[in-house]
Amino acid sequence: MLHGKRILLIVAGGIAAFKSLDLIRRLRERGASVRCVLTEAGAKFVTPLSLQALTEDRVYSDMFSLTDESEMGHIQLSRDADLLVVAPATANLLARMAGGLADDLAATVLLATDKPVLAAPAMNVRMWTHAATVANVETLKKRGVTFVGPNDGAMACNEFGPGRMSEPLEIVAAIEAMLVRDRPLAGRRALVTSGPTREALDPVRFISNHSSGKQGHAIAAALAELGADVTLVSGPVAVPDPTGVKVVRVESADQMLAASLEAGALDIAVCAAAVADWKAARPATGKIKKQAGAPPPALELAPNPDILATLSKAGPRRPALVVGFAAETENVVANAVDKRTRKGCDWIVANDVSPATGTFGGERNTVHLITEAGVEDWPPLGKGDVAMRLAGRIALHLAQAGKKQAAE
Ligand code: C5P
Repeated sequence: MLHGKRILLIVAGGIAAFKSLDLIRRLRERGASVRCVLTEAGAKFVTPLSLQALTEDRVYSDMFSLTDESEMGHIQLSRDADLLVVAPATANLLARMAGGLADDLAATVLLATDKPVLAAPAMNVRMWTHAATVANVETLKKRGVTFVGPNDGAMACNEFGPGRMSEPLEIVAAIEAMLVRDRPLAGRRALVTSGPTREALDPVRFISNHSSGKQGHAIAAALAELGADVTLVSGPVAVPDPTGVKVVRVESADQMLAASLEAGALDIAVCAAAVADWKAARPATGKIKKQAGAPPPALELAPNPDILATLSKAGPRRPALVVGFAAETENVVANAVDKRTRKGCDWIVANDVSPATGTFGGERNTVHLITEAGVEDWPPLGKGDVAMRLAGRIALHLAQAGKKQAAE
């Protein structure tokens, strides 16, 4: 979806520079060409050779190199790009940008450019919250620099807080939002449920499962990237909030259902959450006490509401396209085909979650898409790519459904 777009990626010196390698791969997968400027400090974290191999282009670092200047002057580097992306944007480079310095090739290109600039900051939490950085970011925003992130999270320096560079897919989403006018899901409203639910047994104990929320969150990000107005209803997860998405945090299945129904009139619902099937029939109001010699308490369970089935059978309020997930450990496709009918949804994304597959909590997923037309076996893909592919299919389906309706 970035076909023909030219990105000039400026890689400064931060540990997050390793994520820029994945960013290049993802941009190229989407058809963009990427050219890199690497700062001297950046070269301490990633090698010019890695960038060169991934971009299939040479890497520019030296302002005073005769070959760099004769083959590609710093003005030409900016002229040849549609967008400049600074990732990672370190506190030092942001300060140099804000101060208008031109003391290396990266800073000079950034000073000389008239192209849009996107910065993905990455630094220690105290550097990010320091008054100097806050003022620099403010200045740069006023001058039209767009920022993506940083996210909250654990950092390489063993601290926690804002300062983690956005994930490559979040940066891609920000780039597409800046460059892609053609957003096929613009004007569509989508709901995505994601993560596990937590069912309280008493105020300190709960029943839950291993869902990480990675797949559901990636789907919310992908739908937003294609222009949809997305509400993400998420159980407790550690993954960061996707950018450009309204996030509603819940704990239990009852809360997830209420929040999903509150999302209002929808075109698309993707139920990717691993909702607990059962909750405690009567959760204790105080902590259940151990009593010496007494048998363990019996756990009486009650069924949870089925969010997917409720949305699928919502009558006139039913979203135009309802997509469910089927996490199975055996007979994956047969069970999923059956589930599609039982739940009344339009599509099922089926995946094998046997421990050996590493799907739960992992980065990759092998899925089968079950639609009214049959079963598609998708190749093993990263969860972000499964999400992009699914979002693309959803956009195509709604466009075709719209055309069919217009013809009738
Ligand atoms: O019945 P099962 O849990 O296997 O169905 C999985 C699908 O149904 C997923 O899309 C999941 O998000 C959804 N689901 C739900 N509410 C439940 C149980 C499952 O939305 N209580």
